[in-house]
Amino acid sequence: MLSDSGFQMRAVDGGQSVSQQLVRPRRRADVVVQARVVNVRYEGLAGDGINGIFPGATGFSKEGRANMASNGKIALVTGAGSGIGRAVSLALHAARWSVVLAGRRAARLEETRALAGASAGAMRAVPTDVSNPESVRALFAKVKEVFGRLDLLFNNAGLSSPPVPMEDLTYEQWNAIVATNLTGAFLCAQEAIKIMKAQQPRGGRIINNGSISAHAPRPNSAPYTATKHAITGLTKCISLDGRPYDIACGQIDIGNAATELSAPMARGVAQANGSILPEPRFDVEHVADAVLYMASLPLNANVQFMTVMATKMPFVGRG
Ligand SMILES: NC(=O)c1ccc[n+]([C@@H]2O[C@H](COP(=O)([O-])OP(=O)(O)OC[C@H]3O[C@@H](n4cnc5c(N)ncnc54)[C@H](OP(=O)(O)O)[C@@H]3O)[C@@H](O)[C@H]2O)c1
Repeated sequence: MLSDSGFQMRAVDGGQSVSQQLVRPRRRADVVVQARVVNVRYEGLAGDGINGIFPGATGFSKEGRANMASNGKIALVTGAGSGIGRAVSLALHAARWSVVLAGRRAARLEETRALAGASAGAMRAVPTDVSNPESVRALFAKVKEVFGRLDLLFNNAGLSSPPVPMEDLTYEQWNAIVATNLTGAFLCAQEAIKIMKAQQPRGGRIINNGSISAHAPRPNSAPYTATKHAITGLTKCISLDGRPYDIACGQIDIGNAATELSAPMARGVAQANGSILPEPRFDVEHVADAVLYMASLPLNANVQFMTVMATKMPFVGRG
């Protein structure tokens, strides 16, 4: 249950019971001000933190282990070097997940790690291009090598498309968006499923980042809108095909969270009637809270779709 002052979480999974009370970190977009553990009680977990649970685990500094005992769950976030991916990575980290950070720019991933402060050792950055099958295979091989399992994939990496008329788009522009937004999410899901169906305890969760554009287009947005609609199909297929293996899949559809990608909305963006209007945005921390909730459910419960948007943005009401 979430509250303004903190949250309590109790999860029972694979015979392990974890009970913890955290003071929620006071986070602004891209900034962690405080993350302090008040009371942590582990039942049935041997050892201290991740290395007690997975003896083969490496990549955790002594500093990280000393300051953050893991909840035993491993998360992988793509696009973790900025915006929503960064906020979600830090929220998972504050909830004591071990988090693997993926994205193309190593320096941005390291910035995310640095924001975790003294417990940054519990995060691992793996520079990855999700549109490249070899790069994705290497990422998941690293996850398997280091942690031996994967409990959560947040398929978040994405690009917005240039606002040009559909007939003027180049083949390369179209392919670049499809390769990242759709093929990248597919490639990561594929590798995650391979690990999740084979591991013990079996299963895991995949959360795909869709968009309001998974429901309705903006003018001149064919590649972005088409790929985000396709993400909905991918989410449904993973949900169905994952059932036999205890793999849950849900989708979060976001509208105007304040990130680099949505900066044009604040300046003024083309509306369906041809006008250019600024649109309201909201704090990315609310997206992080929503994903954290979706991730915290036991595998026999699932948020299939969740829409989180700026209350007054033009969507509901046809404008
Ligand atoms: N902000 C919103 O209001 C909003 C609304 C709806 C949907 N979304 C979705 O939310 C996701 C994150 O967007 P954001 O708002 O947080 O924008 P952002 O800050 O621009 O984040 C996009 C992230 O994706 C990564 N990325 C792009 N191409 C990649 C590739 N080929 N391989 C690996 N990583 C790649 C980028 O890192 P590198 O450049 O370092 O690779 C970056 O960290 C996107 O899927 C977007 O469509 C956002």
